[in-house]
Amino acid sequence: MNTIISASLLAADFTDLGCDCERAAAAGCDWLHFDIMDGLFVPSISFGDPVLQCVSGIAEIPVDVHMMVTDPVRYVKRYADFGAARITFHSEATDDVIGTIDAIKACGIPAGLAIKPKTPVSEIEKYIPLVDMVLVMTVEPGFGGQAFMPETLDKIRQVRALADAMDLPLNIQVDGGINGKTASLVREAGANVLVSGSYLFAAEDMEKAVSSLR
Ligand code: DX5
Ligand code: ZN
Repeated sequence: MNTIISASLLAADFTDLGCDCERAAAAGCDWLHFDIMDGLFVPSISFGDPVLQCVSGIAEIPVDVHMMVTDPVRYVKRYADFGAARITFHSEATDDVIGTIDAIKACGIPAGLAIKPKTPVSEIEKYIPLVDMVLVMTVEPGFGGQAFMPETLDKIRQVRALADAMDLPLNIQVDGGINGKTASLVREAGANVLVSGSYLFAAEDMEKAVSSLR
């Protein structure tokens, strides 16, 4: 599977967000990763509706929404209307995983299911055939700039093995601490969608940094 690079805007310069969106696309990123945090599911609050509308209005590449929000189904339709190209939510954030997947699909976009580092793969195994992507968090969600957790590699391998056994071309996304060193580890474990924030936006040469992740 081709490696897809999704640039996490949480690490962008918010005083010049449009410029950083263009910079990421020009550097060869495939998607823009948009982290929505509600201050409940995770401690911090990031950005929401008006920023998503602005970003998807100018984005030259698809906007990959990562909801770190309690009871995410409440927001699916509006984020799709605001231009999300795909929506990923956390299994830990809802009692109705299937209903939330269905709500995303009803908007005509692919659904992704995320798990935190301590959530076992067995919790989401039955949902794998229903989604386009599984996001294995490689840090605790909530903040950028954290160190990659190597204990998550085994979970990536487990998800890939399950998808292969079901003969599914599943996208496996990783998010948190992805840089020139950790990228090869997660790719070897079976991830094909790499989210990267601080590593890409702090790079002197973003194009080179993107290539180093592939
Ligand atoms: C963390 C977010 C990530 C974050 C990654 O909860 O979901 O997308 O921006 O940042 P880095 O790449 O800096 O670890
Ligand atoms: Zn994210």
